[in-house]
Amino acid sequence: MAVIELDKIDAPDSKPVSLQALRDQATYNWKPAAYLDVYDAFLGGLRQAPVRLLELGVAMGGSLEIWSGAFPRGRVVGVDLRTPQVPKPDGNGHMPYRFKGENIIFRQGSQDDAPFLQSLSAENAPGGWDIIIDDCSHIGKLTLASFHILFPLLKPGGFYFLEDWGAGYWHNFPDGQLFKPEQHLAMRPDGVFPSHDTGMPGLVKQLVDEVAMADIYQKNNGIHDPEAPHRTMFRSLHIFHGVVVIQKVGAGARPIAG
Ligand SMILES: C[S@@+](CC[C@H](N)C(=O)[O-])C[C@H]1O[C@@H](n2cnc3c(N)ncnc32)[C@H](O)[C@@H]1O
Repeated sequence: MAVIELDKIDAPDSKPVSLQALRDQATYNWKPAAYLDVYDAFLGGLRQAPVRLLELGVAMGGSLEIWSGAFPRGRVVGVDLRTPQVPKPDGNGHMPYRFKGENIIFRQGSQDDAPFLQSLSAENAPGGWDIIIDDCSHIGKLTLASFHILFPLLKPGGFYFLEDWGAGYWHNFPDGQLFKPEQHLAMRPDGVFPSHDTGMPGLVKQLVDEVAMADIYQKNNGIHDPEAPHRTMFRSLHIFHGVVVIQKVGAGARPIAG
């Protein structure tokens, strides 16, 4: 798979339209403005690149229209269980919503359907995805299933976003649970730091372990692996309210520890 090479991207012909302005132009703008600031910080340098972007969770296509305008040379692929529908002009039933953006492709399917996602990827991103966004079920089990299927199909240096991971703290969410006060910045007498480990918050904490692979497999642990510094799949992990950003390790990644 080709690595994302920021220095090989053409300079823009003119100043790109801000993500916030693109959000305001979208027919259904559900993406919170604060999330777009995060996307802008990580993806600002890719705006003129012919990126392959996959978003799981389309709803009415508002975010696909933002990405379509943000990456005019890219291909934007959206997946959802349901095809977005709008009322027919004559009032008799519904019809599929027509997205505003020539470079948008929609496919109906589930975020945990491996054959579907693999064939979609082979068709639309044979060299790997540059950007994958999971704004789908926000259920830990399904989010992990997508991650196992799709992270290997992300280019080295590519970005994987997870949205709304805080749903796992909602008591009325399918895999949500209330946070227990004893889990708040506290250590038990047995040395354990108790933690909210279910739903997406539990998954996000496992992602932290992935960043630490060089330490997990370091020389003195008895499970030494000479490849340890290269074992981590992540170059970085950033956790914001509502958005997790993973950058995949690149071909030229520098080992940190032996
Ligand atoms: C938060 S909305 C997406 C919003 C959209 N990304 C935006 O910003 O405008 C979540 C969507 O995920 C879809 N969804 C939920 N579970 C799914 C699954 N297992 N597979 C595919 N889509 C799913 C729902 O139908 C819903 O349209």
